[in-house]
Amino acid sequence: MHRHYCGLLRDGDIGQDIELFGWVHRRRDHGGVIFLDVRDHEGIVQVVFDPDTKASFELADQVRNEYVLHISGRVRARAEAAVNPKMLTGLVEVLGTELTILNAAVTPAFQLDEYSSAGEDVRLKYRYLDLRRPDMQEKLRVRSQVTHELRRFLSANGFVDIETPILTRATPEGARDYLVPSRTQPGSFFALPQSPQLFKQLLMMSGFDRYYQIARCFRDEDLRSDRQPEFTQIDIETSFLSESQIMTLAEGMIRELFQTIIDVDLGDLPHITYKHAMQRYGSDRPDLRFDLPLVDIADLLTEVDFKVFSGPAKDPGSRIAALKLPRGDRLTRKNIDDYTKYVSIYGARGLAYIRVNDLSLGSKGLQSPILKFLPDDVVKEILIRVGAEDHDLIFFGADNVSIVNDSLGALRCKLAEDLDLYERDWAGCWVTEFPMFERDGQGSWTSLHHPFTAPVADAGSMEADPGNTLSRAYDIVINGREIGGGSIRIHESETQSAVFRVLDLSEEEVSLKFGFLLEALKSGAPPHGGIAFGLDRLIMIMTKADSLRDVIAFPKTQTATCLLTDAPGNVESEQLNELSISIRNSDTN
Ligand code: AMO
Ligand code: AMP
Repeated sequence: MHRHYCGLLRDGDIGQDIELFGWVHRRRDHGGVIFLDVRDHEGIVQVVFDPDTKASFELADQVRNEYVLHISGRVRARAEAAVNPKMLTGLVEVLGTELTILNAAVTPAFQLDEYSSAGEDVRLKYRYLDLRRPDMQEKLRVRSQVTHELRRFLSANGFVDIETPILTRATPEGARDYLVPSRTQPGSFFALPQSPQLFKQLLMMSGFDRYYQIARCFRDEDLRSDRQPEFTQIDIETSFLSESQIMTLAEGMIRELFQTIIDVDLGDLPHITYKHAMQRYGSDRPDLRFDLPLVDIADLLTEVDFKVFSGPAKDPGSRIAALKLPRGDRLTRKNIDDYTKYVSIYGARGLAYIRVNDLSLGSKGLQSPILKFLPDDVVKEILIRVGAEDHDLIFFGADNVSIVNDSLGALRCKLAEDLDLYERDWAGCWVTEFPMFERDGQGSWTSLHHPFTAPVADAGSMEADPGNTLSRAYDIVINGREIGGGSIRIHESETQSAVFRVLDLSEEEVSLKFGFLLEALKSGAPPHGGIAFGLDRLIMIMTKADSLRDVIAFPKTQTATCLLTDAPGNVESEQLNELSISIRNSDTN
């Protein structure tokens, strides 16, 4: 007798005596015959027990959903009327002869096929049940295939898998650190790595010229559906390769992955500069499955009476952009109000629009709350610039550059999603020529990527004009999500020190936090560069999941907690004492 998987039984197995292990998906009592739908990770098969096999029939009568069973029986054809074309196993059933209950189960917190009404909190609390569902199983299996394929590719290309520490020092990637108190050095803390960045650079300095790691990273940041506090990177570093060689290698890996795992040809990914991406799409991770470009029109509006436009038109820190929605006449007034509310999330103070009913009628063929503020010739110029046609709807954003980019960039994606404007299923690109630095809320310079990214210019020109210095960084974007990013690194300690000066780090701070790096850079550091992909995001995109939580076995919630284990949790005061930590009462701080 052979062990079979429930979901794999087919008509070719008819007549065989088999053994099954599985869970009760459903139990039905049909006038003296008991039907059990028995499930394993391959699927479900129907098992029938009749009173001829008395002992097992009586046991079958006792089982309930999610009981774990061992069944022996014979595969037989279903009666014609009982064939179920919706099931892969629908031509057959198993006549059960022996049944062992391996374990009972309490009534499950939710029925597996009614999970959606259970709500995500319940699914996360009873994650072991949720993971019994076929689509969760499928996603985690794709994830396993992907890591297998990646290891195969990287190993075939001469990469060495090296682990780096989890208990370490801060590795700045722009988020807050998760800290771990040290017992042996009271008052001192390890930080969990935000990425293996510095270690992989040190490995280049050690002479491993091709490193990779499937690395766990930890970032305490505001969570969104495509961010988790604990996530996985496919982390790569190389020596002596140029950025274009690294991009070619990384793109080859991703293209092969898509082809092998989901049979998708990503094609060659275009390279787009950061400046172009921001101008045309309002985003440094543009979704290129559709066009809907933003069109600059500030130069046409400097002299108009309408303050909402003339103010930003004259201010170099502002932007006025138009977004033409072809055949936008299908949007109702209510739709437009909803989109106005939507862009307000991104700080937009309004969403002006012009409906183009009939161009041949001149301004009478247009409909808009702002026409009365704009001279006819200006309106005409705008229509020409955006290439307006009858039935189009044109939206406008006027504000500081980042509000216009964020709001119209997001509106562009929202319109494509709501109106299904996608011209293709898959579109990726590289974004290059990022600025080295941007100003933070307090007006200080911060790194757009991380502080180890090499500038295009020499250190002197960079320090003289940080705002106009470009970096040798590159991001890879698929369907509007950043799935990876990397750069050529600084390999000279003088340039690294110059970057720290731009970031306004004091010499003491630098020597305390990065002294080891500067030392290592002076000890024969090869030119090097690399990239890291977000594995979770990659799987999310490949499986078309809505959230990262659906591709991580045991994810955390938006408030960075684990509902299954109830982590983070309190600890005994004895443990705190050992760590020389006392908890400040929140009432008294
Ligand atoms: P970066 O910070 O861009 O680069 O991260 C690389 C990729 O990791 C993914 N990612 C995340 N995924 C899930 N949850 C998160 N909180 C999260 N944060 C980032 C993204 C991102 O593109 N050390 C550099 C890489 C390098 O320069 O080689 C780094 O970490 O898909
Ligand atoms: P108001 O004069 O404030 O009634 O605005 C007239 C039109 O301009 C309305 O359709 C507003 O939604 C729109 N509007 C107001 N502020 C902005 C802005 N900053 N950018 C784009 N449109 C705006």
